[in-house]
Amino acid sequence: MGSVNEIDFGTPPSTSENLVELVIDGQSVRVPWGSSILRAAQTIGASIPKLCATESLQAFGSCRLCLVEIEGRAGAPASCTTPVAQGMVVKTQTPQLAKLRRGVMELYISDHPLDCLTCAANGDCELQDMAGAVGLREVRYGHQGKNHLDLPCDESNPYFTFDPAKCIVCSRCVRACDEVQGTFALTVQGRGFPSQVAASQSESFLDSECVSCGACVQACPTAALTEKAVIEIGQPAHSVATTCAYCGVGCTFNAEMRGEELVRMVPRKDGKANRGHSCVKGRFAWGYATHRDRILNPMIRGSIQEPWREVSWAEAIAYAASEFKRIQANYGRGAVGGITSSRCTNEETYLVQKMVRTAFGNNNVDTCARVCHSPTGYGLKTTLGTSAGTQDFDSVAQCDVMVVIGANPTDGHPVFASRMKQRLRQGAKLIVIDPRRIDLVRTPHIEAAHHLPLRPGTNVAVLTAMAHVIVTEGLVDEMFVQTRCELDAFEFWAEFVSRPENSPEATQAYTGVDAGEVRAAARLYATGGAAAIYYGLGVTEHSQGSTAVMAIANLAMATGNLGKPGCGVNPLRGQNNVQGACDMGSFPHELTGYRHISDDATRAMFEDLWAVELDAEPGLRIPNMLDAAVEGSFKGLYIQGEDILQSDPNTRHVAAGLAAMECVVVHDLFLNETATYAHVFLLGSTFLEKDGTFTNAERRIQRVRKVMSPRNGYADWEITQLLSNALGSSMNYAHPSEIMQEIAMLTPTFAGVTYDRLDALGSVQWPCNAAAPEGTPVMHVDGFVRGKGKFIVTEYVPTDEKIGPRFPLLLTTGRILSQYNVGAQTRRTANVTWHQEDVLEIHPHDAEDRGIGDGDWVKLHSRAGATTLRTIVTDRVAPGVVYTTFHHPDTQANVVTTEHSDWATNCPEYKVTAVQVARSNGPSDWQSDYSSKVRRSRRVAPVEPAE
Ligand code: SF4
Ligand code: SF4
Ligand code: SF4
Ligand code: FES
Repeated sequence: MGSVNEIDFGTPPSTSENLVELVIDGQSVRVPWGSSILRAAQTIGASIPKLCATESLQAFGSCRLCLVEIEGRAGAPASCTTPVAQGMVVKTQTPQLAKLRRGVMELYISDHPLDCLTCAANGDCELQDMAGAVGLREVRYGHQGKNHLDLPCDESNPYFTFDPAKCIVCSRCVRACDEVQGTFALTVQGRGFPSQVAASQSESFLDSECVSCGACVQACPTAALTEKAVIEIGQPAHSVATTCAYCGVGCTFNAEMRGEELVRMVPRKDGKANRGHSCVKGRFAWGYATHRDRILNPMIRGSIQEPWREVSWAEAIAYAASEFKRIQANYGRGAVGGITSSRCTNEETYLVQKMVRTAFGNNNVDTCARVCHSPTGYGLKTTLGTSAGTQDFDSVAQCDVMVVIGANPTDGHPVFASRMKQRLRQGAKLIVIDPRRIDLVRTPHIEAAHHLPLRPGTNVAVLTAMAHVIVTEGLVDEMFVQTRCELDAFEFWAEFVSRPENSPEATQAYTGVDAGEVRAAARLYATGGAAAIYYGLGVTEHSQGSTAVMAIANLAMATGNLGKPGCGVNPLRGQNNVQGACDMGSFPHELTGYRHISDDATRAMFEDLWAVELDAEPGLRIPNMLDAAVEGSFKGLYIQGEDILQSDPNTRHVAAGLAAMECVVVHDLFLNETATYAHVFLLGSTFLEKDGTFTNAERRIQRVRKVMSPRNGYADWEITQLLSNALGSSMNYAHPSEIMQEIAMLTPTFAGVTYDRLDALGSVQWPCNAAAPEGTPVMHVDGFVRGKGKFIVTEYVPTDEKIGPRFPLLLTTGRILSQYNVGAQTRRTANVTWHQEDVLEIHPHDAEDRGIGDGDWVKLHSRAGATTLRTIVTDRVAPGVVYTTFHHPDTQANVVTTEHSDWATNCPEYKVTAVQVARSNGPSDWQSDYSSKVRRSRRVAPVEPAE
């Protein structure tokens, strides 16, 4: 059901610019051509009863409740399926219409349980509302005849129920699943009286293809599909608009509350990233916020062998500050550093880097983008001039050719995937470049024109081969290149890509991709109309991650696919605020807005406002901090909202670095894996407990609003402020809006951003400044941020991670829809229903060679380490490639990944590890020992009784 207080106009808006004038109930109204009468009436407040129509879905015309009379036309047509016409005169309320509508409602109610008072939807039920609206007072037909009232409820989904007895077969759920989500999991089975909604082949929702996005629940006008939380807690009483804290899509929601208790999250129709849709994580997986594992008191300990001691906030902060000061006194100013979090708000991230630069007095600050999209920063800044995606998400609706490379949007960015699928079903063409046959390659009503299943690690070779085709076959957009790009660099690049060794035929031997397919894909990209490239960590997390990003930018420039809707270079950012964390100066070499720390003028601006002298030398990156710790020169680390022990590569090395430090401060929601090595634990707050902003993958800055009080007493920005003050660097912000004011003063691309503007507009995309007060949906329209676009030669250099007799397979990693990254949040929700353990996908040939069957335990072994997990034997992966996720700490896929990293940014090469797989009897020793180790590390000393 819809969100509290949102108007439903009944049918989607028309985008026509031509207006049509008609008269409804004596009132003149002008609406866009193509609007339905139902929508036109709603715009003037003439509310026509309806059941099967809702604004997010195409009109269907099945319930016959929205009937109207039109002058000069016979009968009573349905207003939801009848478009407006110039001069039309419509009546929505007449005695005849009232009689017809009552008759329809009477039939519905005669086969509906009469339990309104005890029904969970009481007060938020369109059937109930419509019965009232049509003035139904009695039902002449009893329940004695044939009915559906005894049909059993489907409780299988952990988040919602399906009660067919309450279903009026309006098909809104079916259409939501088809049109909005694009999963096509539901049907109306049977005809006439026996017709019934069914999931897949009459399976339970849980066993069906349903991905639990909740669109059907939102669309249902009755209590047939209802959130279990609404049944348990009751109807929400008020709502607060906020932004999802999971992925970089940045869906906005109304958090619907009863007092301080969250009842449900309803995606906002006006959310510019999600347009009223959501996925299972944002809509349902928020229970972690009140999970019993949340630690509610700060804790300290002298060494990691000791149990934790619960202390007051004052003691914890004073202890952490004194330890950092002691370390700096003993080992030097550069012996400490901080890590900002892409899960936290812009304001919080800004404060952490400010604290490092002002209180620690160095630039040893880094962020988890180091391990995901730092190559995007380098690659796009070098070629186009700024480190960000070029388009807004709406742009996909104008795209003719989509290239998806190294991304799995249906799992990683599900709501944007639904938007992509909508466009693909309209006829846009799809090219997928990925070692795995991701769902988008073939999904209901969609089939990729080309799937290039390349060998992991060969992105640069395939992208350069596509450029070879474009240049040698004369498909370059000469006008664009002449006017928009550096010509010397273009010619140098064009000569390079044209060399025979870069042709699809020459590279086929090591990319594994059929040359004809590469040629066809390149031609389609260059000539198929507006073409957009969407890419993910399968591009960046390689030893040539930055090179691959530049190869993508080269393709877009060569074909003129930049600076206009429907095209562009679009990194699909992983975490909710990874774009923001990068924007906020989280890197050791950059201040906010990607300005180099060595730039005197930029530094002077910060020094004036912060009243400190800043170090002009870039600081240490995360891997350098860990290396320095192992070597003995780096001793203290403040980590906000990041579990580096689980998320960073080569777990053994990370553990060694952390173990060598004298003060590790973990500031997080839960005692995470990294906290095993921590001396101070500062409890964090969830996105539901604080104010601030997140910036999504399309540079969209959106408000996060506090819906409940922080369980620990403080929002994260307040804790950083306390620590900074204890370290001697004064901060006095009373509200995150004041922090944003400071960011805007110091950052030209944020100069126009204020909370008032965000509240007024809903969101803005940076750059937002005097030149673009309402933000910038599409970048590089008239010129590139760097002036002329710069082509960069992208020579393919094979990774040092080589397969051989010991390790003959290549491991690549990724995410699954229901879990999120290291799983700290999603593992503490009912999302575990879908994914209880990480499993290894292996091709049938490779499985057969090793005597491995589906579901067998196997040992996954690389030169870095080994882990044990169960298998799925599937041809989704190519022969020679295995794949797993990294959501579960008892598997720790990163035990296996190596220290190889991107040449430019140190982003780890997660996507290519040479491995061997062999049958095993069960979990390794360290895995069996894992639970007891975790229990030990989480011991809390008993509190001594007061004297
Ligand atoms: S929850 Fe989503 S995927 Fe599942 S049936 Fe409903 S609309 Fe379809
Ligand atoms: S479950 Fe709800 S939305 Fe679906 S057909 Fe029944 S009443 Fe309509
Ligand atoms: S797509 Fe991403 S932002 Fe949207 S609801 Fe899902 S996890 Fe949240
Ligand atoms: S709302 Fe128009 S026919 Fe149902």
